[in-house]
Amino acid sequence: MEPTAYPTEKPALYSLLREQLAALLDASLPQVSNLANASALIHQALENLNWTGFYLMHEGALVLGPFQGKVACTRIAVGKGVCGTAVAENRIQLVPDVHVFPGHIACDCASNSEIVLPIHDAFGAVVAVLDIDSPLLSRFDEEDARGLASLVELIEKICF
Ligand code: SME
Repeated sequence: MEPTAYPTEKPALYSLLREQLAALLDASLPQVSNLANASALIHQALENLNWTGFYLMHEGALVLGPFQGKVACTRIAVGKGVCGTAVAENRIQLVPDVHVFPGHIACDCASNSEIVLPIHDAFGAVVAVLDIDSPLLSRFDEEDARGLASLVELIEKICF
């Protein structure tokens, strides 16, 4: 996909991103292909990110999935770190400052804020998370949470 000039207003940005993601995801492809492109699209569209990717539930823990960014930890226990907390609580984790999040797992020391969204299968079980890190403090707000949740909804429909 050609680089796009993305809108600066978040509602317009996420609405365009949702359209692009809908066009990109292909239910006939393996999950890994769709998640790889989803992480690339989000990473190129949102400003000030240093890591964007998926962790997938595998044998009772989260394991590293497709991502953009630096090498990352490969296994996270449920309840540990921001990602494991998103699974344990089945809730979006919006973390303005990762350094004060109890048990935060630092994969890239450039990260200062983070958002993690749980991803569900058709039965409502948490099967993965979308994890996005920023070098800025307080990079993500409620508008990002809503916009990213609308992307996750598409990912849930097509990929899980
Ligand atoms: N910070 C995450 C670990 C994954 S990395 O950010 C890629 C956490 O605390 O779960």
